[in-house]
Amino acid sequence: MELAHHQPALTPDFVIAAESDQDVAERDALLDRAMGQNWRRKSSEKLRRGRRPSEGLAFVARDASGAVVATVRLWDVTCGERGAPALLLGPLAVEPSLRSAGLGSALMRHAIAEAGRLGHGAILLVGDAVYYERFGFSAAKTDTLAMPGPFEKSRFQALELVAGHLDGARGVLKASGRKARMATAGVIRRAA
Ligand SMILES: CC(C)(COP(=O)(O)OP(=O)(O)OC[C@H]1O[C@@H](n2cnc3c(N)ncnc32)[C@H](O)[C@@H]1OP(=O)(O)O)[C@@H](O)C(=O)NCCC(=O)NCCS
Repeated sequence: MELAHHQPALTPDFVIAAESDQDVAERDALLDRAMGQNWRRKSSEKLRRGRRPSEGLAFVARDASGAVVATVRLWDVTCGERGAPALLLGPLAVEPSLRSAGLGSALMRHAIAEAGRLGHGAILLVGDAVYYERFGFSAAKTDTLAMPGPFEKSRFQALELVAGHLDGARGVLKASGRKARMATAGVIRRAA
């Protein structure tokens, strides 16, 4: 199993680790449980579909048995066609039975720290302001930016990791991350 840079212990019972390919089915099942099927239809998903998360910025929290109990990923985007590079965060989700134990906050703080360590300038997200303001996010820097689809302006927030990184940034966010590998097996079968 590939481990995250620090792999901090949250409590004796949970650790944060880098997400691996083997986690994908378990992670998606967790997202369905935590958010319903709606997460697949969000505007953020347009910026994620067909892409891989930003290098080194997909994390899970595991319980003592190794089960995935929380997830967060960050995605490479640009502000406008060729504007400032940034990260889009999401989805963030925690196993419903384990909420309010600090897992979401621990994952957020780990993700923000790793994004800064890797030299990224800003993180954007669409979410509940009341939750994300504790990590320093605000809508102050997203006024001239837009998601590629419907979004609520007050929920569209940013955190600068480098002061002034989003100064002058404008336009619709565009996916700029590495393309996901094609599932070739099905394509070959259909072509045969
Ligand atoms: C949002 C979520 C990731 C938080 O994870 P968590 O591990 O429960 O969060 P933490 O333990 O770090 O923080 C809990 C605190 O945040 C508050 N909180 C949780 N979700 C919130 C929300 N959407 N808006 C405002 N506050 C929220 C809790 O009331 C709690 O407050 P308290 O500390 O005063 O008791 C989790 O509730 C979840 O998976 N929700 C469903 C998926 C989702 O909506 N994700 C996107 C969030 S916009």
